Order: sequence, then C-alpha cells, then structure tokens
Amino acid sequence: MKMARQYLFSQTSFFFFTLLVAVSANFFRDIDITWGSGRGKIWENGDLLQLSLDRFSGSGFQSKQEYLFGRIDMKIKLVPGNSAGTVTAYYLSSQGTTHDEIDFEFLGNVSGEPYILHTNVFTQGKGNREQQFYLWFDPRLDFHTYSVLWNRQQILFYVDATPIRVFKNAQGAGVPYPDSQPMRLYSSLWNADDWATRGGLVKTDWSQAPFFASYRSFYSDACVWSGGRSTCSGATPEWWDQSLDADGARKLRWFREKYMIYDYCRDNARFPRGLPVECSLSP
Ligand SMILES: *[C@@H]1O[C@H](CO)[C@@H](O)[C@H](O)[C@H]1NC(C)=O
Repeated sequence: MKMARQYLFSQTSFFFFTLLVAVSANFFRDIDITWGSGRGKIWENGDLLQLSLDRFSGSGFQSKQEYLFGRIDMKIKLVPGNSAGTVTAYYLSSQGTTHDEIDFEFLGNVSGEPYILHTNVFTQGKGNREQQFYLWFDPRLDFHTYSVLWNRQQILFYVDATPIRVFKNAQGAGVPYPDSQPMRLYSSLWNADDWATRGGLVKTDWSQAPFFASYRSFYSDACVWSGGRSTCSGATPEWWDQSLDADGARKLRWFREKYMIYDYCRDNARFPRGLPVECSLSP
C-alpha cells in the first residue's frame, strides 16, 4: 500500500499542521508573485492581491507550498467593466509533461455581457475535458469564493459553496487520476483575445487598460507536500472522505441544468469513436 506509507506521519506534525492552517491567510506569507514585472501587487498588509494586465504584459502568482489533496478556497473579483479578450486563470497544477491540473479560467466580456467560466481537468498531461458555464451573478461586481476539494475519490469544483463540477476517480476503469503528483496553486491574468471572447471575435480594448483581477481570503486546508512527505496522517482532515451529499447533488444538478454552455461529455461530434470513459461515471 503505497498510499498508506505516503501519508504515514506523526500525530505531532499533524497537530502542528492544523494549527498552521488556522492562521488567517496572508498573501505575503503564502504566495509568490512570479511574473509581470511589478504588475502583480499585494496590499492591505497581505489581505488583498491584485494582478494587472496592460498591452505589454499580464502577471501571475503561485502558492509557496505544494499540496497533495486538499481543500483550497480563494475569493476572486474579476476584471470590472469591459474585460473582453482577457482571461483570468486560477488552477492547481503539478510540473512536467505528464502533469495533472485542475482548472478554472474566467473568460472576460464586454460590459453587460456575461463572463464564461471555463473548467478542465488534466491527468498525466492529458486534458480535453472542457466544461463551460455562465454564472448566476456578475463576477466583476463582487468577490466570490472559488474552491477545489481534491481527495482520493473525486475532485469537486465549487462556486460560493455550490458544487458545479465533479471529476470522479475512475482508475478502476482505466482513467488516470491525480493522486501522486503534488500541485501548486497558480493564478494569472493575460490577454487571450485570439480565442477568449465569442471565440476571438471580440478583441481587448487597450484604451481600458490596465485591467485588474483581485484576490482575498486564500484558504488552504490541505496536505502540504514537502521534502517527499505529506503533512497528513492517520488523523485525517474533514474533507478526506467527503463526497456530495443529497443537497450537494441537487445543487449540482440545478447549476448544470441552468448554466452549462459546453460539456465535452456531450460532444459526440468531437469523439466519433465514443465519449471518454469517465463521461459515463461522472454526472
Ligand atoms: C459574451 O457575450 C456574448 C453575447 O451575449 C456571449 O455569446 C458569450 O458567450 C459571452 N462570453 C464570452 C466569454 O464570450
């Protein structure tokens, strides 16, 4: 049992870990701004982070820590006004060509027209699992919480505590599942006006630049991976075996019926030899 050995860890360390995560988020402590030559900034003693984009560059950050399973929350306020052509990506990813990735990407739009939330899951370097949604609110007006719950059974995507997508562990059916490569949290704001808004028809209006995306309340209750060891032990975190309850399943169905725009699992034309195996297992 490789898993059991990986998560074997002393009770003391686990206790220390739970103490650590109880401390409120601070971007100075938890995040490195990694690119954008000063276009990403931390304000308010570490409570607020802003990424910006102008015609010369976007910007991005990553978490200092790597995680192998966990629950990650972030409050994000997307680019206000005319954000057409811009993309704000918020994702977990491991390294290398066979990397795993759990993606939220927010595709901007002209004022008054809806953002699209684009999601994807990569396992062993392979994605092609796009699902796109509208939201039931305008994500430019306020901060909303975007979360990932990643355990051994499934990956759950949440928006303000409403589950919007599930990717189940279907290793039994031969579908690779992210369970061994630690991931970091990343976010970036960049120009993608060749495809983002109405498929690239609407271009970024640079007279509106700089564009800003704002972040608050980063929260991670996760197994931190460091030096080949995980902080999770036998005393497992609350989310370790969590899956959707009846209420969650009902919310998920409501959301997907009302707001889904695109689902690779319904795109028969794209997969003429049959839909991917996991499509018959996840809702
Ligand atoms: C932008 O608005 C148009 C018109 O309402 C819509 O078709 C499109 O899905 C919206 N979102 C994006 C990202 O293109």
